[in-house]
Amino acid sequence: HFTKVSYQPLRGKKVVITAGPTRERIDPVRYVSNFSSGKMGYAMAEAAQKLGAHTVLISGPVELSVPTGVHVIHVESAAEMFDAVISQYDDASIVVKSAAVADYRPKNIHDQKMKKKDGDDVLELERTTDILKTLGKRKENQLLIGFAAETTDAIGYGQKKLESKNLDYIIVNDVTDPGGGFGSDTNVVTLLSREGEAIPFSAMPKVQLAEQLFETILQQESSKLH
Ligand code: CTP
Ligand code: CA
Repeated sequence: HFTKVSYQPLRGKKVVITAGPTRERIDPVRYVSNFSSGKMGYAMAEAAQKLGAHTVLISGPVELSVPTGVHVIHVESAAEMFDAVISQYDDASIVVKSAAVADYRPKNIHDQKMKKKDGDDVLELERTTDILKTLGKRKENQLLIGFAAETTDAIGYGQKKLESKNLDYIIVNDVTDPGGGFGSDTNVVTLLSREGEAIPFSAMPKVQLAEQLFETILQQESSKLH
């Protein structure tokens, strides 16, 4: 009877992963959000955990079960996600921002259910803070990995985000690709590095893809990871 000795390159390292959408409240019964299912982020957490990491998953509201051994922090809004991520950042080795953070939130949260009125047909919004950009500015030794879901020119927009947010890698996907996207169990992505490499991954289950993404990144980073 043998015990399986697994490959655990992330043993002793803290990996922080965000997943799912955020919800920005309008009033007690309504919110602004997006179609993120959280599946890719949860798959990234499962892969990090398998590779031996102390894995912290900061999750927006999703209907998924937390992978065994993963420490979860549940959040609702972009502001709550910001606070949770910042609180976990300093001693993290790797941060993966898979969450689909709302870019706008209602300017006012109403305590009571809003009533419709004639002529009152505009909901005032304001921008949320860009969590990943803040992390990029404060980066010390952390390896910072972003995601970008696009509907057109995924590589071009991905490269711009990699630079403007000071990332080490960005994983881009075209959500209109039939092999993946929101809610799907499979995904097809390209991994872009700050050195300008573009590594394509064919359509495959999100959990398998997450493992391959970590393996590829770890191969490139083995000497540098703190
Ligand atoms: N992101 C974030 N905080 C925000 C918005 C985005 O941390 N307020 C992160 C996402 O988690 C993702 C990356 O930034 O890892 C790219 O998100 P994306 O929505 O593709 O890019 P944006 O910079 O928001 O640009 P746009 O939505 O206009 O394409
Ligand atoms: Ca956005």
